[in-house]
Amino acid sequence: MNYELKRNLLFVCLGNICRSPAAEGVMKAIVEREGVQDNFHIDSAGIGGWHVGELPDARMRREGARRGYNFNSHARQLTAEDFRNFDYVFVMDDDNVRQARLRCNDPNLYRKIKLLGDYMEKHPHAKSIPDPYYGGENEFKYALDLIEDACEGLFDKLKE
Ligand code: 4NP
Repeated sequence: MNYELKRNLLFVCLGNICRSPAAEGVMKAIVEREGVQDNFHIDSAGIGGWHVGELPDARMRREGARRGYNFNSHARQLTAEDFRNFDYVFVMDDDNVRQARLRCNDPNLYRKIKLLGDYMEKHPHAKSIPDPYYGGENEFKYALDLIEDACEGLFDKLKE
């Protein structure tokens, strides 16, 4: 780990109440576990503003708590400023990529948008992290499985 470098990571999904707050919480837990939390600024945001101010969905909080996380961020909407303030903007699916680009007013910054699923190691066939919002408990478990896998893979990549 290059200790000179502070990394600013933003996780983005559609509503900022299911997938991206979970990714924020998992990534924060990883950097704390590794003792490098001072080298990171980690946040999450949503494409849409329907849930601004809300805690994560109770179903995701419950699944997170089962695995030892406390997902307690408050939803906010993605802004054009985020693309200047963060080094990377990790999104969950292709639709998020398109919508994030629309929100970013500087095409030079599109390169900061990355699919979080590209960092998964244990789920090589899954590329996107599907929206669990209209699903049930199994969809939330699966989304969190993918998020944990991808965040571990991402952390390994950032260490290189
Ligand atoms: P998320 O899930 O993008 O993982 O936070 C969703 C949450 C809410 C809505 C859509 C997706 N919604 O339409 O309200």
